[in-house]
Amino acid sequence: MQKLAIRGGAPLHGEVRISGAKNAALPIMCAGLLTAEPLHLTNLPDLHDVGTMRKLLQQMGISAATAPGEITFTGDTIDKWEAPYDMVKTMRAAILVLGPLVARFGDARVSLPGGCAIGSRPVDLHIKGLQAMGAEITIEHGYIHAKARHLKGARIFFDLVSVTGTENLMMAATLADGVTVLENAAREPEVADLANCLRAMGAQITGDGTDTLTITGVKELHGASHRIMPDRIESGTFLVAAAATGGSITLTDTRADILDTVLEKLAEAGAEIKVEGDTIHLEMRGRPRAVNVRTAPHPAFPTDMQAQFMALNCIAAGSAMVVETIFENRFMHVQELRRLGAQIEVEGNTAVVRGVERLEGATVMATDLRASASLVIAGLVAQGETVIDRIYHLDRGYEHLEAKLSRLGADIRRLK
Ligand code: UD1
Repeated sequence: MQKLAIRGGAPLHGEVRISGAKNAALPIMCAGLLTAEPLHLTNLPDLHDVGTMRKLLQQMGISAATAPGEITFTGDTIDKWEAPYDMVKTMRAAILVLGPLVARFGDARVSLPGGCAIGSRPVDLHIKGLQAMGAEITIEHGYIHAKARHLKGARIFFDLVSVTGTENLMMAATLADGVTVLENAAREPEVADLANCLRAMGAQITGDGTDTLTITGVKELHGASHRIMPDRIESGTFLVAAAATGGSITLTDTRADILDTVLEKLAEAGAEIKVEGDTIHLEMRGRPRAVNVRTAPHPAFPTDMQAQFMALNCIAAGSAMVVETIFENRFMHVQELRRLGAQIEVEGNTAVVRGVERLEGATVMATDLRASASLVIAGLVAQGETVIDRIYHLDRGYEHLEAKLSRLGADIRRLK
């Protein structure tokens, strides 16, 4: 199993290009199932999850032509409407094929995702929404089997805000008969990016970016070309890494408007931030100040940045409270950060972090994608060497992480 070895202490300096967003790319790739015509995607990140999604779609019979950072799907030969367990268990986003398959082909078999490191994460909202649109759903042998002669528009209220739930039902609704209204829908920018792509394919969608989406079904969608939006979580991760190490970095090809709460928290921690067009510059002089964070659906503070801010708080001046309201078990990084000398107490969904002057390198284990990112940040500030085991989690969601960090001056290497 591959590991990362980091020798901490060097402040990050320089410029880094932000990749296309994983959480926009995965649903948008599934939109390729909705049309027989070519869907051309650019700014596609080179990530393990993107590769898994491509393989899953190809197994269904879609053709995929790739070039660096690009892919063209053509869905005129799809003849298998199934997402098998071995793929869904490694990448929960595979559930996103369910809506498009049942909408276009009237039949889909998708494995239930099962548990994962950050909680039970059910998919009941995806299922209930499709049922409201007229799909007949059975659960058999660990698979969701959805059938529908033709989906019908419906008014659907989400009890809980769900990002992929909103995306699945929005894709399904594009080809349904009549109007679908999704209430208490996710407002994440990745949902809006998917809506942009679907509109380019001929879908009729309004309200993306708000909590009410209205989709008027059309007979069919056509081919299109779409550029994947920048990754706000990768952006935030590099900014926190620079702040924690007392560095000065410039992100290019990103967007500040999708990072509001993260930039506000970094400013509160003492960072100087300048935004110019699609670049963000951050400089941190001295020790960061501890900052409270509370995760909640967009536009509030993203759960996918919680672990990284926890790492920042570990070495900050003062104490901070980190409250996780989205996932019930998303503090797996706490025990690992403690191995580096962090002082963190956890009570239910709240962690209290007391900043220490310094962390010390140790061997730690990555448990999920963003937890791994927090360990990298902690390793970058810790004295001596930190070895991070099970870094396949990082490869799922960060494009060329160690190459990008090396160019910013970090002492980081992959051990094979
Ligand atoms: C997406 C993101 C993930 C991010 C998360 C929250 C992708 C591919 N992944 O995950 O990076 O951490 O949003 O911002 O975009 N829930 C239910 N029933 C459902 C669906 C969800 O109870 O049917 C619960 C979940 O267990 C969780 C909460 O709702 O507690 C939010 O989950 P959701 O927004 O669906 O997360 P994902 O879409 O899986």
